[in-house]
Amino acid sequence: MPTGTVSWGWLGLLSPSTDSIACDCVRAAAANEANHYLSAYIPIHEPLASTQKQDVHDFWNAASCGENLYLDGSDRVAYEAQAQKRYALEPYILDFAHFEDSAGQRVLEIGVGLGADHQRFAEAGADLYGIDLTERAIEHTSHRMAEFGLSSELRVGDAEHLTFPDAFFDRVYSWGVLHHTPATPQALAEVWRVLKPGGRASIMIYHKWSLVGIMLWLRYALLSLRPWMSLDEIFSEYLESPGTKAYSVPAARALFAQWSVVRISTVLGHGDLLESEAGQRHRGIVLSLARRFWPRAILKRFFPALGLCMMIDAWK
Ligand SMILES: C[S@@+](CC[C@H](N)C(=O)[O-])C[C@H]1O[C@@H](n2cnc3c(N)ncnc32)[C@H](O)[C@@H]1O
Repeated sequence: MPTGTVSWGWLGLLSPSTDSIACDCVRAAAANEANHYLSAYIPIHEPLASTQKQDVHDFWNAASCGENLYLDGSDRVAYEAQAQKRYALEPYILDFAHFEDSAGQRVLEIGVGLGADHQRFAEAGADLYGIDLTERAIEHTSHRMAEFGLSSELRVGDAEHLTFPDAFFDRVYSWGVLHHTPATPQALAEVWRVLKPGGRASIMIYHKWSLVGIMLWLRYALLSLRPWMSLDEIFSEYLESPGTKAYSVPAARALFAQWSVVRISTVLGHGDLLESEAGQRHRGIVLSLARRFWPRAILKRFFPALGLCMMIDAWK
């Protein structure tokens, strides 16, 4: 994801080599600390309602987004380095998140992952809450916050069934998450419910008509002699966790039909432009050639809208 977009599992599929999802960076101390914290919230051991959601859970619980590629330890230095890499690769997150505006606001982040954005909200002075479907992400983020002396109400939770009262938050933020959950409209209904009237949702979901989507289709549909495969099937099977979805701009507008103001933009990211280190880890010939000859300047000039990240700002 990219990310989240700094998860790059799909790039591995362009090459014979794969990136192991075994993780060695969560220290026992962090796990104990997080487990102690989580025991206050419990539902973590309940079976997840849908099989597909269990698959999503298992995928992200094996390694949080960007963990294998960009996190090299579990101390402040490692977390700082991961954040630096994240915002260098995806500088548009900073513009979109407007962390600095959140001072004094009650903010919920859905799908905290490794917690880089969560840390920024806390540093900005938000009254902060965060959930993630996976224990691993909550452990990472809890540990990260402790390392920096920051606080947040973190818990394992499901975006489709938020455990917060109606009209509780000034802002809900979620980067690269809600396209992974099986019932995205249900999750957005929950975002609406927990926001105060006039509250703001800042949500990034994947954009269907993107260079990443086209590349994946070329590789897994056309070059695999299955040109009948739809982009929806390609995203679902080959981009990150099973069942990942991507939306056209009109489809996203329809998802947000009940919101009072909706702003949508797409951005060419490092995945679309084959710019990140992730490509260097995978040495497949197709990817190597693509990286070398990718017409980045032309794509930026003539196809700026074909980015994977679709950023939606909406007010209740
Ligand atoms: C691509 S990662 C993004 C993480 C983080 N926002 C980032 O940008 O790095 C997707 C995250 O969404 C979480 N997730 C998926 N479905 C979810 C759900 N229904 N409720 C809460 N979190 C969910 C996953 O566990 C995973 O941590």
